[in-house]
Amino acid sequence: MARLTLPRNSRIDPAAGKHHKAKSGVQRVRTFRIYRYDPDRQTRPRIDSYELDMAACGPMVLDALIKIKNEIDSTLTFRRSCREGICGSCAMNIDGTNTLACVKSCAEVKGDIRIFPLPHVPVIKDLVPDLSGFYAQYASIEPWLKSPPPPPGSERLQTPGERARLNGYYECILCACCSTACPSYWWNPERYLGPAVLLQAYRWLVDSRDEAAHERLEALQGPFRLYRCHTIMNCTNTCPKGLNPGKAIAETKKMMLTRSGQ
Ligand code: SF4
Ligand code: SF4
Ligand code: FES
Repeated sequence: MARLTLPRNSRIDPAAGKHHKAKSGVQRVRTFRIYRYDPDRQTRPRIDSYELDMAACGPMVLDALIKIKNEIDSTLTFRRSCREGICGSCAMNIDGTNTLACVKSCAEVKGDIRIFPLPHVPVIKDLVPDLSGFYAQYASIEPWLKSPPPPPGSERLQTPGERARLNGYYECILCACCSTACPSYWWNPERYLGPAVLLQAYRWLVDSRDEAAHERLEALQGPFRLYRCHTIMNCTNTCPKGLNPGKAIAETKKMMLTRSGQ
C-alpha cells in the first residue's frame, strides 16, 4: 500500500485553538473560525474562534477580520489593501470557497464563518499564502506589449471590435483564487501555468496591438504548461470577478490547433 507523508506542520492541532468570547449581553453574535499558523513557533496550525457583535461590525468578512485584529487579537495576520475588490490581496478561502474577503458578505454564510488561507500553496503566516511561484509564472509569460521597434509616432489605435476582444480578460486582478482552486494546478504547480496565468497569456494573444502571438504560443507548447487543464472548471466557478479562465484556456488551445493546421 502506498504511504504518503504530509508536509511538516500541515495538520491542524484540534486541541490548540483559542476561543475569544463576546461580551455578555451582546445580541447579534457570530463566530469566526480562523486558521492560525505561526512559522516562528514550532507548533502545528490551530483554529481560533472569535465571537463578534455584528451590530458593531461592517458587513463584509474583511470588516470582521479588521475588527478582530484591531480589537481582539493583533497577532492575526492577513493581506488587504483596496477594500473594494480591485487589488486582489485579500484572497482567501471562506466557507469552503476561494474568494475576496472584502466583497464576501458575512450574511451570505450560514452558521460559523470558517476562514482559511488559499489552498495548496505554502503559508507564510495565518491567512497569508506564499504566491512567489505564482508571480514567477506570471512573469514567465512576459505580460507586456511586444512589437518590433521603432515604436510608432502616435498611439496604437484599436477598433471597438478589437478592444472588445479584451473584455472578460483585462479585468483579472491576479488574486490567484482560480489557480489555487484548480486540481491540475494543485498536482503540478511548478509545470502547469494554471488558469490565472493562462488567462493573462490569452489576454496578450488577442490584443490586436501585440505582434508576438507566434512566440507566445510557442512558449505554451509541451505537455504541462497549457495542456494540463482538464476542463474541470473550478477556476471559472470560483472567480470573484466573474471571469472565465476556462474559456480563455479553451480558446488558446483552439489557437494552437489553427496554428498547426489541424
Ligand atoms: S481569473 Fe479571476 S480568480 Fe483568477 S486571478 Fe483573475 S480575477 Fe482572480
Ligand atoms: S478548467 Fe482547467 S484551469 Fe480551470 S480548474 Fe479545470 S483544469 Fe484547472
Ligand atoms: S482588499 Fe483589495 S481585493 Fe480585497
